[in-house]
Amino acid sequence: MSKFYLTTPLYYPNARLHVGSAYTTIVCDVVARYKRMCGYDVAYLTGNDEHGEKLQRAAEAAGVEPAEFVAEKRRQFIEVWKKLGIDYTHFVYTDQPEHVTSVQRLIRLAQKNDPGVIYKGTYQGRYCVSDERYVSDGTDPANCDICGRPAELINEQNYFFKLSAFQDRLLELYEKHPEFVQPDFRRNEVVSFVKSGLRDISISRRRLKWGVPWPDDPEEVVYVWYDALTGYMTGIGYAEGDEGSAEFQKLWPADVHMIGKDIIRFHAIYWPAFLMAAGLPLPKTIFAHGWIYYEQDKMSKSKGNVVYPEPIVDALDSFGAPGNDALRYYLLRDTPFGQDASFSYDGLVQRYNSELANGLGNLASRTLTMILKYCGGTVPDFSDFKKKQGAGWDEGLRWDNLAREVTLRYDAFDLSSALEKIGEVVSHFGDQFLTFHQPWKHADDPGSKPLIDGVLYIALEAVRATAVLAYPVIPDAAQRIWNQLNCESYLGKLEDQRIDQLKWGELKPGTKVGRPEPVFPRLDKAEAVARLNEFAEADRMGHQALTEKEKETVETPSGGERPVTENAPAQPAAAPVASTASDKISIEDFAKVEMRVGEIIAAEPIPKADKLLKLQVDIGTEVRQVCAGIAQYYQPEQLVGMKVVVVTNLQPRKLRGVESNGMIVAASVGDEGRPVLATFKDEVPKGAKLR
Ligand code: MSP
Repeated sequence: MSKFYLTTPLYYPNARLHVGSAYTTIVCDVVARYKRMCGYDVAYLTGNDEHGEKLQRAAEAAGVEPAEFVAEKRRQFIEVWKKLGIDYTHFVYTDQPEHVTSVQRLIRLAQKNDPGVIYKGTYQGRYCVSDERYVSDGTDPANCDICGRPAELINEQNYFFKLSAFQDRLLELYEKHPEFVQPDFRRNEVVSFVKSGLRDISISRRRLKWGVPWPDDPEEVVYVWYDALTGYMTGIGYAEGDEGSAEFQKLWPADVHMIGKDIIRFHAIYWPAFLMAAGLPLPKTIFAHGWIYYEQDKMSKSKGNVVYPEPIVDALDSFGAPGNDALRYYLLRDTPFGQDASFSYDGLVQRYNSELANGLGNLASRTLTMILKYCGGTVPDFSDFKKKQGAGWDEGLRWDNLAREVTLRYDAFDLSSALEKIGEVVSHFGDQFLTFHQPWKHADDPGSKPLIDGVLYIALEAVRATAVLAYPVIPDAAQRIWNQLNCESYLGKLEDQRIDQLKWGELKPGTKVGRPEPVFPRLDKAEAVARLNEFAEADRMGHQALTEKEKETVETPSGGERPVTENAPAQPAAAPVASTASDKISIEDFAKVEMRVGEIIAAEPIPKADKLLKLQVDIGTEVRQVCAGIAQYYQPEQLVGMKVVVVTNLQPRKLRGVESNGMIVAASVGDEGRPVLATFKDEVPKGAKLR
């Protein structure tokens, strides 16, 4: 059996996974399931990139050790993958002990194999902490071209990797193996970049503690990208034995590293160069997909427009719809693979209704219902139909060619158009065909029995084809359809069907089918979008209001999550999670929030709650006690006398056992969401209402 080794990027666990970051993992899950159905022995690796300055800072801000911080985040990520039904076979995290062996082994191998490829030098330049990348060689102020933030000035003695020596070898690689970087337009970008000249890169850091120690020089830690990329090998046993485990020998090199477009240089330039230096085989393909935007805008915590997958799944599940499958389908169908795409709840419900509920689901339930009604609930025998039609009776009635086209598209990772082709199976061999023959119209005519049986057999075969072809994308729903076909006893399990050898006509006439039940209930669009928003908002509040213990470790600056807003400073964009036209709130909705000017007349810390302050706020008519998560940013004495904005009509609640009655409004600044209290330039009276 041929092996197929596929990887996602290793995610930084400094923030929560969102729909954009889950996208690659879902895509890989689809590809892994598809490849298994083509008979490959698939290894699918995902994991976390737990080292680097960004994580060290996030842990410091949370007041916990980095190891503890990343372990907790790892646990949360694994939960999300479980919820999204991600069926990976390997999980790697760069804080696992064997990863040190792995990284040090790769460095030593390069030093031995290519003496001089790693040398000591002085690095001075600008570095983006957020993206863990060098921004410029100069000392002049510079902004990171990925995130736009100002880069920091760095000056240190480092180990350098002689990347400049790899220019020709890399260009030869792209030339000889055009499949190495995909899609083609990305390869062209990489080729021009390499042609413009490569400079050596620093691959160690002196000032950082949180990372893999440099072999025989523990004062230095290995540069986070060298460290992280090696994770693709650690996860399959590179650290074992002298040259990696038997599994490593079998699986390496990776067949596909699936990544987002922003990290292509690390994968298509650095990584092959690191491996060439060590004399190890190179991955076969780096596939860089586009970004999922929210309303044409990059999802970003600081913009407050991040969409999380879990509440989407829950909201759709609450309608009895398969939320997970619906999300997977939408993300893949709406995104021409490789291109950028825009996410919206509106689009999600639209696709679900038109292609899953009205398309695939409807074909399955109407065909099965008619089989129950007109064929006694058994797969009809269509031999009389065949006879009647004569030679070539099946021409144009079989979906074999379309099924081949679907698999070709899966093979090329052209996932949106694979789904489009599956839609053609549904419409040509199901809906249009049934509508043309209208078996229900002939139900009372015994002479039409061969026609009814033939037509329903053909439609049922289309249902089987779509269940198999769509299984990689919508595994749960396809399984339910498979169960209703009741064909497992003679065709085997759905996941074991050879998708690449699918043949028309394998349903056995005379066998019982199951009872039809709707797999994709149709959704009322406005109601569904409203519920998606509602769940997203509740999820956001839930994450802000976590348990009190979690609050103390995770809130505000720790993982870069938003600051706590309830009974604590809020950010101005308090509810921008969704903003399709129908999600805009009316002025009446806004008027429900009562905000007043309050003067802080006393402030004190709360014992054993490092992040909270207890404030007494005079709002004109009364003095309110409010707990605010600002202790790390404001001294109590600095607050007294300050006029702030208070949300006064929130339900009171207890934080750390202390009653909090209201919320102070704050801007959320920077990636870590530093709260800055909203206040006034002009003199304003206490109690004045904000409108
Ligand atoms: N840790 C590095 C990867 C190391 S791989 C050896 C990293 N991590 S990340 O968490 O910042 O990003 C992981 C992946 O998520 C990247 O491929 C990135 O492109 C992807 N995405 C993050 N936001 C995204 C969208 N909004 N849309 C699609 N993908 C996005 O980079």
